Parts: sequence; C-alpha cells; structure tokens
Amino acid sequence: MESDRVLGLFWVMLAGAVAIWLFVMGISVYATRSESRPLSDKAGQRFILWGGVAFPVVVLTALLVFGLRLMPEFRAPADGPRIAVSGERFWWRVHYNTPDTPGVAKALSGEGVPSANEIWLPVNRRSELLLGSPDVIHSFWVPNIAGKTDTIPGRINRLVVEPTKLGLYNGICAEFCGTAHAQMLFRVRVVSQEEFDAKVAAEAAPTSVLDHPGRIAFERNGCGACHAVRGTDSAGLVGPDLTHLASRQTLGAGILDMNPDNIMRFVALTEHEKPGVEMPSFSMLPRDELRQIAEWLGALK
Ligand code: CUA
Repeated sequence: MESDRVLGLFWVMLAGAVAIWLFVMGISVYATRSESRPLSDKAGQRFILWGGVAFPVVVLTALLVFGLRLMPEFRAPADGPRIAVSGERFWWRVHYNTPDTPGVAKALSGEGVPSANEIWLPVNRRSELLLGSPDVIHSFWVPNIAGKTDTIPGRINRLVVEPTKLGLYNGICAEFCGTAHAQMLFRVRVVSQEEFDAKVAAEAAPTSVLDHPGRIAFERNGCGACHAVRGTDSAGLVGPDLTHLASRQTLGAGILDMNPDNIMRFVALTEHEKPGVEMPSFSMLPRDELRQIAEWLGALK
C-alpha cells in the first residue's frame, strides 16, 4: 500500500537524521575536549569544504532523489475504479463510476453513483481517487492506506491507492476547515472485486422503501431541499445523499453508530451532536414525526 512506502521514506529520513546528529554531536564533543588541538588553516578549510558543503549536498540530494522517486507511484495509471471524493464542510461526498470531475459538479450533473462518508475499494486494484472541494481546503487522509492529499476548491487532485489487505479503515480530514473539522471522519472498506461491484450496483439503485409514514414526514418538513433519496421527490444536493443511508456504518460523517435512535438524535440535536455543522437542528418537529423519519431513514439499506 502507499502508506508502506511513506513509512519506508520516514524510516530512511529518520535513520539519516540520526546518523547526521550523531556525527555532529561527535565532532562537538571532540572539539570541546581540552586535549584536542586546533586544526591548521589548511586542514580547517578542507574540513569546512568536505564536512560543511560536500557532505550535506550529497546526503540531502540522495534523500531528495529517494523521496522524489516515490512520488510517481502515487500518480501512476490506475486499473481499478475511478471514484470522486469531495471534502465538504463537514462530510465527504462520494461518487462511484465518475467520468472525471469530483464532488458538487458531478452531483449537479447527475453523473456517477452518489454516496457519502464511506468509500468502498476493491482489494489489490489501483483505484483512482479524484479529490476536490466546493468550499475550503480539506485533506483526505486514511493513515493505513494513503494520504494526506488536500482537497482544494477549483482544482482536482489525483490519488492512486492500491489497498492490499481486506478490512475497515478509518479516515479523517487532516486540514483545519472549521468548527467541526475534528468530526469530519469517514470509513474506507476494502472488499473483494465482487463485493465492490455489488456495492456500487446497490448504491446506484433507487430506494425501494417507499410506503412509510416517515417518507411523508420527511417530505412534508422539507428535508428533501438538502438531501436526496433517489426514487422519491427528494432530490436536494446540499447535504449527503440518503438513498442508502442505513447501509453505512456511521452517521454524521463518522460520529455516531448508524441506528434509528441515533438518527433521531442527530436530526433533533444536530448542532449539539456536531457543533459547527451546516445542518440546523430540527428539535421543533413533533416527536412522533421525528421518530417516523428516523425509522424510515434507518430502513434505507
Ligand atoms: Cu475538513 Cu478539516
């Protein structure tokens, strides 16, 4: 995985730094010993030339070349899916099968398969992530797979990742982006190619849970102005797509476990659960309507 190479780079840099530190400390200790005699002018000049110019140039150039040689691997051609990921205050917009542009632009054009806050990747494939942002700079970071790569308004950063171990990985926004920065989490699930294909097909389908009082309450209270539930009239693009909300493990970009109780809590006490969030609290809604909405959303697998 890319994180292994970053780790390798870290150890090489650390070993180099420790060796240089020991060398410099050795010279310092030697020079302060009373029996050490000053060098002649000629020997002093030679020492400065070799120790002060040649040695740093060689060592730093070697480390630079070593580091630069790793960089193309993060930009190498992909053979896996192309997924657009948009960092937005304070959640992650995800588009599978995206033609190119990340985030809001894709959402507005209706291309790709929208999801949020959870990214599935096929194992042992080089997946291409296109990273963007509509508001401020965020940074996409999954420490055990790859990163950090900034998501920058007005540009697309490309990151190729090849996860080699199945499993669940935690991701986080690594660039301060506002009050709820620390609560801008996400999950990455590395699965087999078959599971990945099934997941994208499931995400692409509209919801089949239509006959539910929660759907009526959701629509009556205008939730669809910001959120889309494909298959219904709710088609808002401001907030996360909720079509298959309950298939995700967490709620509110990684801050709560996914279940109807927490959905109800999050809708009613949004600003309390996630200070700084852009969504207002809907504590004014009647309790039975909140409960119905939460139960409906909790059934959207
Ligand atoms: Cu987004 Cu910090």
